[in-house]
Amino acid sequence: MRRPTRSRYATVVAGLTAGVVLTACGGSGSLGGDDDEASNGAADDTSPVTVGLLVPTSGVYAPLGEDMQQGFELFLEQNDGQLGGRDVELEVIDEGETPDTGVPGAQRLIQQEVNAVVGIVNSGTALGVRDAFEEAQVPLIIANAGADDITGARSSDYVWRTSFSNGEVAAALGPRAAEDCESVFLAAADYAAGREATAGFERTFTEAGGTVAGSVYPPFGTTTNYQPFLAQMQQSGADCVYTFFAGAEAVAFTQQYASFGLKDSIQLYSSGFLTEGGVLQAAGEAATGVETSLHYTDQIDSPRNTEFVEAYRTAYDEAPTVYAVQAYDAAQALDQAFENGTSGPDVVEGLKAIDTIDSPRGEFGFNEGHGPDQTYYLRRVEQGEVGLVNVVVEELTTS
Ligand code: BEZ
Repeated sequence: MRRPTRSRYATVVAGLTAGVVLTACGGSGSLGGDDDEASNGAADDTSPVTVGLLVPTSGVYAPLGEDMQQGFELFLEQNDGQLGGRDVELEVIDEGETPDTGVPGAQRLIQQEVNAVVGIVNSGTALGVRDAFEEAQVPLIIANAGADDITGARSSDYVWRTSFSNGEVAAALGPRAAEDCESVFLAAADYAAGREATAGFERTFTEAGGTVAGSVYPPFGTTTNYQPFLAQMQQSGADCVYTFFAGAEAVAFTQQYASFGLKDSIQLYSSGFLTEGGVLQAAGEAATGVETSLHYTDQIDSPRNTEFVEAYRTAYDEAPTVYAVQAYDAAQALDQAFENGTSGPDVVEGLKAIDTIDSPRGEFGFNEGHGPDQTYYLRRVEQGEVGLVNVVVEELTTS
């Protein structure tokens, strides 16, 4: 993957090393929000803002973090480096793989009194930082992590989400899978996201008449050999398998599923992260025929998405992913929210006032828990003109 070659903004980024980087764009405001104007700007001033981008630049989810950074920066690039009419200083911190690295990263950004934070891939990290953002009154827009409670039982005025909830993505697929499959074997990475995804799928799949033949939860972040788990799937007699894996784990699982001989005998369903972006191209032929649910694919046929895909391809020489779109839309949300001011409470009021986000996935608004009200699609991996793609099969009904 490449950084934009033509962007004044991103050229600055490209010269910096991974890990903790600071990017400045256009404005001359101070770092860290200790400038009163920057952190407390009223609606009618245009003082700069500092936004923290907390995304993985290391670990199994690093490719997702790169896509998120690209999506966020594309919106800045398209808007003169500004959000809400204010120049943006972007501080990028590595979330790493787990809460052990993600939580301290968030704490650092909060201590620096940034005006808002965007990012977070891992559900465990999102759950671990939720209270800190609320207490510090720093708005957080989660641009991936799907922990159900974040926009459910533990929703907060200071925590918003432009992505999805794990249970919802999976639940959308259950009834559709039950049309073709009587019994399922569940397999998911053993942490919050995997457990929530299988619970969401199991609920709607069994409500639709299906049965569960068994389940496995390979350790997250350390499993490289899925063969013992694949043997259990084979022996279970299940008609289909449902999974939650993402990033590097998705590539390993999909390739081993095929080489173990299950690809043509047990239909593989998954939340869409299994076949998204670079992961799909890396998995290659092994991924063809996999069916997934997700709220985005670059194959969505709409003028808004076509325009977005073109802009993204021009900037990065690759197709956008759901991760890029979620971060692009977080930038769109902040663009509207900063119009209302830059203090935490002002930004929250600005977020509450948002009617719709003009997303490449289709327009959406925020629900009561501050997550997106959105459409989910059934996608199937097919060979496209240039590489594998997730074609849209149909819209899924959610419950
Ligand atoms: C999660 O931890 O919620 C998650 C991670 C990667 C892809 C999707 C969800």
